[in-house]
Amino acid sequence: MDLRHHGDTEVGGGLVDLAVNVRTGMPPEWLADIIRDSVGGLAAYPDAGPARAALAARHGRDPGEVLPTAGAAEAFVLLARVLRPRHAVVVHPQFTEPEAALRAAGHAVRRVVLDGDFTLDPAAVPDDADLVMIGNPTNPTSVLHPAAILTALARPGRTLVVDEAFADCVPGEPESLAASRLPGLVVIRSLTKTWGLAGLRVGYVLAEPDLIRTLAEAQPLWSVSTPALAAAIACTAPRAIAEAETWARALTADRDSLAAALSALPGAHVVPHARASFLLLRLPDGESVRTRLRTRGYAVRRGGTFPGLGPDWLRVAVRPPHVMTPFVAELESILRAR
Ligand SMILES: Cc1ncc(COP(=O)(O)O)c(C=O)c1O
Repeated sequence: MDLRHHGDTEVGGGLVDLAVNVRTGMPPEWLADIIRDSVGGLAAYPDAGPARAALAARHGRDPGEVLPTAGAAEAFVLLARVLRPRHAVVVHPQFTEPEAALRAAGHAVRRVVLDGDFTLDPAAVPDDADLVMIGNPTNPTSVLHPAAILTALARPGRTLVVDEAFADCVPGEPESLAASRLPGLVVIRSLTKTWGLAGLRVGYVLAEPDLIRTLAEAQPLWSVSTPALAAAIACTAPRAIAEAETWARALTADRDSLAAALSALPGAHVVPHARASFLLLRLPDGESVRTRLRTRGYAVRRGGTFPGLGPDWLRVAVRPPHVMTPFVAELESILRAR
């Protein structure tokens, strides 16, 4: 199984991109202006201090509890390098980089694979796991685990890593643990998805000061660039948070109507209670449907590279109705032609 396969390798060639979960039409002009303006300061080495303070304030934390990183991806690698788990557990299906980073650092990984509607029973996680990694909301299932279920996973001697790269898809972020000071809890956030900054590389870790210090020592010097730090500060402004919230509400409506339309297609199963910016669906002979969608101009994300899924599973990004209505019509014609 290719853990390093991601949606970006499915796009290109003029296809409509429903494979990558980065918001389209982003970044907004006001944010692009701030990033452009930061170019004037490129002669100096980056100073992460102001971004740390701004990110900490956004989540009601101290600056010593925050480490800006070159995207969430760098955070997974740093954690894998500094932690010494004897029994690491990754809850799947989820984004595969956390497991890839652990394996690359030489750690054995045990998979806990959810099925059914992909909700989590904390009892499924072995008691002796001293590292548990989980996504919330989860890519690719779009399932949002309740904060109470996640906190039930925390215990002395265990590091619990919650990847909240898609947390700002959920209006009000009711299940986010970003402000929580639970011992052993690590929360990873990303600016990639909502702000369309995949190419800038900007995310951050929230954790206890001791672990933040250890991660900072392992991080390459000046890892997060001046433009990325400027974007991090800009996206913590009240105006930016309000803008993201407005988008998250619009996304909710678009996603729920797309889920209803897809569920009505012959043979389609859509994972219920989706809360992120994508839907996971299973179709009979899904891999050949995916191939046929490509001939009709649409790239969707294959599911077969996610542990716990298989080739019948497809992940579809939620785009505005003018994109999704013709997509659903094409998919329906493929399904009815069989
Ligand atoms: C769940 C999840 N976490 C983290 C990432 C990586 O985010 P970043 O671009 O901040 O490295 C992705 C990217 O696809 C993702 O899907």
